[in-house]
Amino acid sequence: MTQFENNGLRPSHTPVMEDAILMTSGRIGSWEILLKRRPLSSTDLANRYDTVSGNWERTAGRFQLEAAYQKPLLASQVATVLGQAGPQAQVLDCGVGSGSLSIALDRILTDPVIFHGIDTSAKMLVQARSKMQSAGLRAHFKQADILSLPHDDQSFDVVMAAHVLEHLPDPKRALREMVRVLKPGGMVFVCATRPSLFGALIQLKWRTWAVTEEQGVAWLRACQLTEIGYQPVHLGACAGVASTAFWARLPK
Ligand SMILES: C[S@@+](CC[C@H](N)C(=O)[O-])C[C@H]1O[C@@H](n2cnc3c(N)ncnc32)[C@H](O)[C@@H]1O
Repeated sequence: MTQFENNGLRPSHTPVMEDAILMTSGRIGSWEILLKRRPLSSTDLANRYDTVSGNWERTAGRFQLEAAYQKPLLASQVATVLGQAGPQAQVLDCGVGSGSLSIALDRILTDPVIFHGIDTSAKMLVQARSKMQSAGLRAHFKQADILSLPHDDQSFDVVMAAHVLEHLPDPKRALREMVRVLKPGGMVFVCATRPSLFGALIQLKWRTWAVTEEQGVAWLRACQLTEIGYQPVHLGACAGVASTAFWARLPK
């Protein structure tokens, strides 16, 4: 697909860094020091996730992702938003991976909803399809980029993404795209790695942002979202509180 064919190359004389991820910043006197790193291109990231897809279930199990996501999902009251939308309520899970966030959401709902999963990694989508279908979820899948969702405006009651935005040089751009496909009154729910020892390891390995609570809230506000809430996400194994969950509503 052409949208995955960007190899990240730019003319060698171009010193711009707008598309780099801010790793850390500080001030010494009048000096403001920003340390930025180029993110993996969409193609490289999809290839990397294709490579790890066979082990992703073990990773998701080790960090107890399904259980970890349930607490902030409950706190966000996403079940109320979906309950008001009725039996045809539509949920989009961007960067669905092997489906942990969708399955966590399904576990806290009393009535079923319709799930849609997108991911740039074809092999992750195979994992998601198998796991979500055997968990009994009604789900549809498409290979697509969060930056260019193949859906009409105002299609979904809930649009979510766990541990995806931090991979992108401009997470606000992805959030704007998520909001484009959100119905008025709908909810955005995202989890992102936060600054921590574990977060630093993830940053080094995957060239991701470590998203502070202030940063996440600012990104949501910049998208004109309201009723913003956030909560730490307690992951299993040695990761501890390595993520934050954020949620917000699009005004009606
Ligand atoms: C850390 S995994 C998280 C998977 C799942 N959301 C979870 O919480 O278990 C990140 C996922 O996002 C996908 N991804 C990365 N960049 C993406 C993009 N630009 N658009 C869509 N999916 C993307 C990866 O292929 C991978 O499946």
